[in-house]
Amino acid sequence: MSTNNIKTFSIFSILLIAALLFTACGPATTPTPEPPVTPTTPPDEPPDDFTGTLEVFSWWTTGGEAAGLENLFELYKNKFPQVEIINATVAGGAGFEAKPALTARMLGGDPPDSFQVHMGQELTETWVVDGFMDPVTFIFESEGWDQYYPQGVLDIISYEGEYWTVPVNIHRANVLWFNQEVFDQYGWTPPSTFDEFFALAEEMQAEGITPLALGDVGIWASTHLFEVVLAGSMSPDKYNGLWTGKTDWNGPEVKQALENMARMIEYANPDHAALSWDQANDLVIQGRAGMTIMGDWVDADNLAKGFEHSGWAHPPGTDGIFVALSDTFGLPLNAPHRDNAIEWLKIVGSKEGQEAFNPVKGSICARSDCNPNLFGSYLQGAMQDWESHTIVPSLAHGAAAPESWVALINDVMTSFVTNLNVASAQAGLAQSCIDAGICQ
Ligand code: GAL
Repeated sequence: MSTNNIKTFSIFSILLIAALLFTACGPATTPTPEPPVTPTTPPDEPPDDFTGTLEVFSWWTTGGEAAGLENLFELYKNKFPQVEIINATVAGGAGFEAKPALTARMLGGDPPDSFQVHMGQELTETWVVDGFMDPVTFIFESEGWDQYYPQGVLDIISYEGEYWTVPVNIHRANVLWFNQEVFDQYGWTPPSTFDEFFALAEEMQAEGITPLALGDVGIWASTHLFEVVLAGSMSPDKYNGLWTGKTDWNGPEVKQALENMARMIEYANPDHAALSWDQANDLVIQGRAGMTIMGDWVDADNLAKGFEHSGWAHPPGTDGIFVALSDTFGLPLNAPHRDNAIEWLKIVGSKEGQEAFNPVKGSICARSDCNPNLFGSYLQGAMQDWESHTIVPSLAHGAAAPESWVALINDVMTSFVTNLNVASAQAGLAQSCIDAGICQ
């Protein structure tokens, strides 16, 4: 929604409220006695008799993920002790198991009361355009949130003049995580170019350390690595052009990215297809692997595991670039416990909720008024980067492309990480853009 739209919308709301007030205050024109009016509770003060259940669907089961979710639940329980929370999680990083389960439920007319969904194409193309969601503009209005969310975020959650979800955080996809103790021991510094990465990888290998930890039991983790390599192999403009058809998938930048990625995979743990992202991170924690490239939920994983030697850097070529994604919670149409869900969303979008959630989730607030002192050093840096870096959307986490296209790219990655065939991967990617209806 543009600023103008927001203004128009607010003015419209004010006019509507004014009209209602005038009607209520005007002289009575009908002599017929009115039935007694039952006093109603103002909408911003929920009655304390909220009961029943609240089912929240997500894929947050690992240490930091579960801890963040639990903190939100605690706030809810304190406010609505009589509501039973059903924590409907389906394990699997990036929702690779949860999303199909959610789709089955939504199509089967069995929505949860609220569910985790990525901001951007995943929300809009999958759920909003096809009419599966209820708008949440009224919550933004009652809570006065417009002023606390950056305009860019408000624009992304808007469609046809309404807001459609409540963002709880901002995650960065492009982080290179390493074990500072191990790096100190060998006198290593994190690589900022691909050449440096490969040179360091050789040194690690010579010490018997697997250079790159990868856990792509869900292929999204390889797509994630690929998006980070793409962002590091071309300018942000070129990267953005990939999702609009402006940048040629058959061009030299994509070829370079695939070559970089193929070389990286050669340095990865051979059992990568059997591990999850957090198991890959364990290899780094244990000093068995040198680096992993993963989103900043690793910060939360390290926190939950009590790992104190976490080091981080910008992966090759991505200094000054913030590959962004956001977790949000939406209100499905016909949510079985809609009132309970609305109160949940109010907590998700509140300053209190985001300050309780994000420091343990490894993400920064989607709101701009959180207290930085509540966050660890990595996240304080991420907050500054979010203000100053060039933001580009994540592919693997629903921001850059519709899910149907992401699925096609996941298929290309499945073959690529096994055969490392650059030409065939590039042809597959170019075809996926055509199949997605973006390229000619
Ligand atoms: C992302 C999600 C993060 C984190 C990660 C690993 O898609 O946005 O919050 O949970 O998956 O599961």
